[in-house]
Amino acid sequence: MPEITLRNFTPDKACYEVERRAHEHPWSFSVFSQSQGPAYYNRRLTIDGETIGYIICQQVLDELTIFNVAVDPKHQGHGFSHYLMKDALNYAHQNKMSVFLEVRASNTTAINLYRTYGFSELAKRSDYYKTHNGYEDALVMKWQSEQN
Ligand SMILES: CC(C)(COP(=O)(O)OP(=O)(O)OC[C@H]1O[C@@H](n2cnc3c(N)ncnc32)[C@H](O)[C@@H]1OP(=O)(O)O)[C@@H](O)C(=O)NCCC(=O)NCCS
Repeated sequence: MPEITLRNFTPDKACYEVERRAHEHPWSFSVFSQSQGPAYYNRRLTIDGETIGYIICQQVLDELTIFNVAVDPKHQGHGFSHYLMKDALNYAHQNKMSVFLEVRASNTTAINLYRTYGFSELAKRSDYYKTHNGYEDALVMKWQSEQN
């Protein structure tokens, strides 16, 4: 059985490799590595010691914002994002937080994932993200624990 772990992390090269491979429009390493400090809840997913995914969240009072979640393309489609989402939502539930995120309107895989967990669409920001040949909308989504 492979050993799967989920631990706090400070952004590093191994996680950035996943960022670079998973996203069509990756953050720069500089932006990625600034996502750390007491306001962050960041979790790294490994299999047998190899970093295969992560989630980066920022907490402000009773709000948790998921800034970034990614799974290495060679491990996508096998349910690994559920480890990351369940962990973050469990953390939010325990701390009585609502959860927010923004996602590209074209990112149906991520939108499906978020809907699976009961995220609902709160707003649309028109032409918010750059694409290779223009701009696309962002959806703002919100999750709230039933017991919040
Ligand atoms: C979004 C992402 C994290 C999902 O990771 P994953 O481990 O491949 O996803 P899983 O296999 O755990 O599937 C989770 C859910 O995503 C959705 N999903 C997965 N693959 C999909 C596909 N090819 N088409 C549509 N929906 C899909 C399903 O709702 C699935 O739920 P299910 O397990 O109940 O079927 C991954 O695709 C990724 O890293 N994408 C690039 C980065 C990104 O866009 N991040 C989100 C915005 S910050």
